[in-house]
Amino acid sequence: MAAEPENNQTLAGRKIVLGISGGIAAYKAAELARQLRKRGADLRVVMTRNAARFVSPLTFATLTQAPVCTSLWKPSDTWSIEHVSNARWGDLLLVAPATANLIARFAHGIADDALTTLYLAWRGPVVVAPAMNTAMFEHPAYRANEAALRQRGHAIVGPEPGELACGEEGPGRLASLEAILAAVESALSPARPLEGIRVLVTAGPTREFLDPIRFLSNPSSGKMGFALAEQAARMGAQVTLIAGPVALVAPPGVERVDVVSAQEMHDAVMERCGQADILVFAAAVADFAPERAAESKIRKREWARSLQLRRTPDIARAFGDIKRPDQVSVGFAADTENVIPSARMKLREKHFDFVLANPVRGEEQVFGSEHNRGWLVGPSGRPRPLDRMTKSEMARQILLHAVEVLRRKR
Ligand SMILES: Cc1cc2nc3c(=O)[nH]c(=O)nc-3n(C[C@H](O)[C@H](O)[C@H](O)COP(=O)(O)O)c2cc1C
Repeated sequence: MAAEPENNQTLAGRKIVLGISGGIAAYKAAELARQLRKRGADLRVVMTRNAARFVSPLTFATLTQAPVCTSLWKPSDTWSIEHVSNARWGDLLLVAPATANLIARFAHGIADDALTTLYLAWRGPVVVAPAMNTAMFEHPAYRANEAALRQRGHAIVGPEPGELACGEEGPGRLASLEAILAAVESALSPARPLEGIRVLVTAGPTREFLDPIRFLSNPSSGKMGFALAEQAARMGAQVTLIAGPVALVAPPGVERVDVVSAQEMHDAVMERCGQADILVFAAAVADFAPERAAESKIRKREWARSLQLRRTPDIARAFGDIKRPDQVSVGFAADTENVIPSARMKLREKHFDFVLANPVRGEEQVFGSEHNRGWLVGPSGRPRPLDRMTKSEMARQILLHAVEVLRRKR
């Protein structure tokens, strides 16, 4: 932990319920409780039975000077049986660490202990800091449960990559206390720098069909575009998300337009671009499509040895040609080499205000990953590096830069 600033009462008077579940990182919740109190928060702690195997409730009772709730049924915990009134008491529910098991129970609305019952009765903001083994974190069952919580608008902070208690290495460590405290502060007083601004985001791949069951496409998962839409909405923008075929759920409050081909995405953008203030072209649009798509399945014996291709419409360029001076457009340049020069070329050709130069070679996998890195390349000055970070954080940084450019233009 960095040195604590004096008089850092950023949470003065805020009522926080701290939920703790049974992971090895539970011991870190003691320092977290201390930091929350130090910042002025009024704290109540609810622990799962398994959390109490890792750290004694007495530790938290001492740190918070209040009884700790570990059961729905204990008559001695006067406030613990009143899970509904306590759900009403708090301004924010923070769960750190959140086990895979707890996140599954939250996702499915299971209310079988004090913490999950409180969660179901909760109406306010929720911040969840997961921590677990990397394989658990990457398991599709966990991914789906985490996505369900995001979809409900909960802030998910971390986990971070690093060395894990089990001796393995990878994403799974509890986020730093600084990151958790920052998430708590922002959930309690969300900054809305995009209030009144209309944002259009394109996301995901496109599909260019050869026949009804085969297509040309790319491995884009749409996660970067969806993170942009989610962050823009959180920051107060009115958001339209034009999405290619992806297996993602639209963030709450976002208008979603589903398309399949580059031509459909082009038409959807052209129809709506006039109403947008900031446009972010994060989709990985297929550059080529088959000259003609067969109406029925092409039989193997009829298969031509070569495929005639045509260029698909260049959506960002088409917008660049009609862009108004008071609009900001942002591009993505994913490349395997010469990433920055190719971003600069794209910037000029498509009249972008800046481009996220995105290296897609090396040990990190960008497509489908939760993380990304690159450089913000503008028309002048040095590219600004964005070191490896979550796509959500990168989305926030891109949007903050875009709104700064927009303000300079107006
Ligand atoms: C030593 C030990 C460490 C564990 N660490 C974690 C962990 O970091 N994250 C996790 O999701 N589960 C972890 N587990 C598994 C959970 O304790 C288990 O899933 C339990 O059912 C969680 O209960 P709760 O969610 O009700 O607290 C650990 C188990 C043991 C025995």
